[in-house]
Amino acid sequence: MSKITKVKGFPDLFPPQSNLYVFMENTARKIFSYYGCEEIRTPILEKTELFARSIGNETDIVQKEMYTFLDKKNRSLTLRPEATAGVVRAFIENVQAKSDEVFKFFTIGPMFRYERPQKGRLRQFHQINVEYFGPQSPQADGELILMLWHYLHALQLNNLSLQINSLGCPQCRPIFEQKLIAFLQTVDEAALCPDCQRRKTTNPLRVLDCKEQSCKQILIKAPTIIDNLCSTCRSHFQAVLDILDNTKIPYQLNHKLVRGLDYYQRTTFEVIATSNNIGAQSAIAGGGRYDGLVKNLGGPDVPGLGFACGMERIALLLEVQNNLQKDFFIAVLSEKCLLPAMSLANKLRHQGLSGEVSFEVKSLKSQLRYANKHNIKICLFFGEDELHSGKIPVKDLETGTQHEVFFEDIITTLKRFLKTEIG
Ligand code: HAM
Repeated sequence: MSKITKVKGFPDLFPPQSNLYVFMENTARKIFSYYGCEEIRTPILEKTELFARSIGNETDIVQKEMYTFLDKKNRSLTLRPEATAGVVRAFIENVQAKSDEVFKFFTIGPMFRYERPQKGRLRQFHQINVEYFGPQSPQADGELILMLWHYLHALQLNNLSLQINSLGCPQCRPIFEQKLIAFLQTVDEAALCPDCQRRKTTNPLRVLDCKEQSCKQILIKAPTIIDNLCSTCRSHFQAVLDILDNTKIPYQLNHKLVRGLDYYQRTTFEVIATSNNIGAQSAIAGGGRYDGLVKNLGGPDVPGLGFACGMERIALLLEVQNNLQKDFFIAVLSEKCLLPAMSLANKLRHQGLSGEVSFEVKSLKSQLRYANKHNIKICLFFGEDELHSGKIPVKDLETGTQHEVFFEDIITTLKRFLKTEIG
């Protein structure tokens, strides 16, 4: 029979790779809880209109990248290409927001974009996504970036660059857009890439962050949004930068950073990996403020801001060897020992130790090979001799030291070997 293979761009995740995802998720849960951020879950399927209205009709995501289909009742549905739109919809439907309240949520899960798959770019990928609702203050933008930085450092990532910009507000942005359009009219249209020739009229801001070398060259002389901010946006942005300076978070101002989603206002940022092991897709996180989106989706006039980390790209940066270590492996050397070995493993697990017990009797050599391959720290050998003597050989696989240990002392000995507090 022919085998059925996976859909292109939809990867499976197995150990050790999947352990990295557990590590990223657990670290996120821990660090975000320090900031009072609570986990929510929203559906992966939403009405298509939600994305068209929030991300923007003229964006690449909505124009080219959505998995959209009609259901059995001819309703247009879309697999979420990002989380923010769905979280905002869910916020409006589930939360009675009062004007002075602050809500902090995060959500972890798969997103879907019909892009050309390559290293760090997939059709099903995962995001760790944070959204704050309520605060207008630049303090919130600052805290959000501090939390993201804290998280990335807790993952022990370095060689990162934080790029930041302000996109202004509905008062000052249209004036800037007019200036940009006027500038674009002065350039030789043929020198722009086909996408930018289209964007010039449909979404001129997006021309600014085109990655094509020819467009980049032309845009060196383009007006910058930062020089065109109104005084309120300017002082909001300066206050965010003051927080970063005060907390010694290094950043680069990037006046071409407009992001690929239309809902942003004021602060926008991205974290770029400067090491070259993630290929061309170097943005590992991105976000910003989206005041107006909650209202635009039919909710109250509540400001919002957030970011998302791309888990596949972070995984490329983390040690692939970051294998989940298990504390023990009980090698069973005789049929009679299967039952007591299982009960010993049960006892150890109830003491908070992680590990495995052999399900069948095999040679000592093959069981040791298994333990070494599966990142086990300590191996216990359980044979008939041990049953009679009440003593069991315990081997530290990291140092190679081995001791005979009485059954009743096993837990304390393992504690000593593992140098952890158990129980
Ligand atoms: P985004 O910049 O489109 O923002 O995506 C955030 C991150 O998701 C990117 O920096 C990248 O690491 C990862 N990512 C995006 N597309 C792919 C892909 N095809 N394959 C692998 N990774 C990918 C958003 O999605 C916004 N919703 C972020 C946000 C939250 N803004 C406010 N709140």
